Amino acid sequence: MKLWGGRFTKPTNQLVDEYTASIYFDKKLADYDIQGSLAHVEMLKTCGIIPDNDANTITEGLQKVAKKIENGEAQLSEEHEDIHMNVEKLLIEEIGPVGGKLHTGRSRNDQVALDMRLYLRDVLIEISQLLVDVQESLQKQATENLETVLPGYTHLQRAQPVLFGHHMMAYVFMFQRDLERLMDSLKRVNKSPLGAGALAGTTFPIDRQFVADKLGFDGICENSLDAVSDRDFVVEFLSNASMISMHLSRLCEELVQWSSAEFNFIELDDAFSTGSSMMPQKKNPDVAELVRGKTGRVYGHLVGMLTTLKGLPLAYNKDMQEDKEGMFDTADTLKGALALFAPMIETMTVKKENMYEAVSKDFSNATDLADYLVGKGMPFRESHAVVGQVVLHCIQNNKYLLDLSHEEFQSFSELIEGDIFGVLTPEAVVNARDVAGGTAKNRVKEQLEIAEKQVAAS
Ligand code: ARG
Repeated sequence: MKLWGGRFTKPTNQLVDEYTASIYFDKKLADYDIQGSLAHVEMLKTCGIIPDNDANTITEGLQKVAKKIENGEAQLSEEHEDIHMNVEKLLIEEIGPVGGKLHTGRSRNDQVALDMRLYLRDVLIEISQLLVDVQESLQKQATENLETVLPGYTHLQRAQPVLFGHHMMAYVFMFQRDLERLMDSLKRVNKSPLGAGALAGTTFPIDRQFVADKLGFDGICENSLDAVSDRDFVVEFLSNASMISMHLSRLCEELVQWSSAEFNFIELDDAFSTGSSMMPQKKNPDVAELVRGKTGRVYGHLVGMLTTLKGLPLAYNKDMQEDKEGMFDTADTLKGALALFAPMIETMTVKKENMYEAVSKDFSNATDLADYLVGKGMPFRESHAVVGQVVLHCIQNNKYLLDLSHEEFQSFSELIEGDIFGVLTPEAVVNARDVAGGTAKNRVKEQLEIAEKQVAAS
């Protein structure tokens, strides 16, 4: 017999049971569901809505049900549709009809919203911690590479040299914004919808604040219709997760490129790489590729959720049961990626010599020659053209700027003096960018300090 079977004259079609059930996936919420019920029953007791001894019996019963579910002894069935009705059914099996008093003044509609919020609150804290671990691994690489120069790119063409530490710090600040977004979203997640009932509130003299306090919420959802139909917090999570995945995937792409023989800038640790079943020589950056690839499913869940919610009238609609799998999968996908990321970054070998070799055999110091001429009074637009000519001359003669003689430089502009050779080395070029946020060693050190403070404050 269904918990709601009273007004029905026929049993549900088996296919309907299978199709509408969510127990296959919402069993993940069992623990949160019971936490919510424990708080609810205590409130019912405190407000005198059910007798003390009934409340105590229910509390003990719920604790037993929790243990049984945890130990895998409880039978969760699709006949009872979802985790909420399965728990209630198990409770009634455990303590008899008095268990039926638990659902007084409550609906599955406010109950499921509560469970989702409790679950997501934990996930946000876990993911934030993992993000901080990733930031720390990047900061460590940054600290160890405050003198490692590599080509910086625009359009994936060599542009200007940068410090590897500077490059690592770019990601630290990206993840900092992610962290701040997660923490900010926590404010909106951490409100209790319980007491909204099915949609309109309840006739019982409940104390919503009591339940909210018990469960560590910062407050209660202000409007009962909104409380049961709001899944903005799920969309917000999926959106923040998409942004994090996008950031991870950009770094993954760089790791994949840098690991190739063509770049040969880093080597990922053996423990974080995989081989080929056919080609014995292969060492593949599978983790980085898969994190990059899984970005697709996270974006998919975001678009899926937005689309499910589009056009839904107030208040609860069964469509909203579709909010869970995407959220669970996103949380698991992201936790999996982040947990691997910190050790993968920390253990990678940075091939400083190869980076230096690369930056010594390109024209990424050309801007500095132009800036030098500006320092001698030439307008920048003119110096840009002169240096363009110098570069063309070098390309035609198979040389780089530092291979030119003083005389060759002079043939392009008499303003170029012997000190130019000190100006155009990779170190000089990097350290000349001594502006807040720039790539000079001191400025990257400064960024490390700023990041440290920001992480601590978030
Ligand atoms: N299993 C449902 C869900 O996940 C719980 C709420 C169902 N409420 C209802 N009146 N059918 O959304």
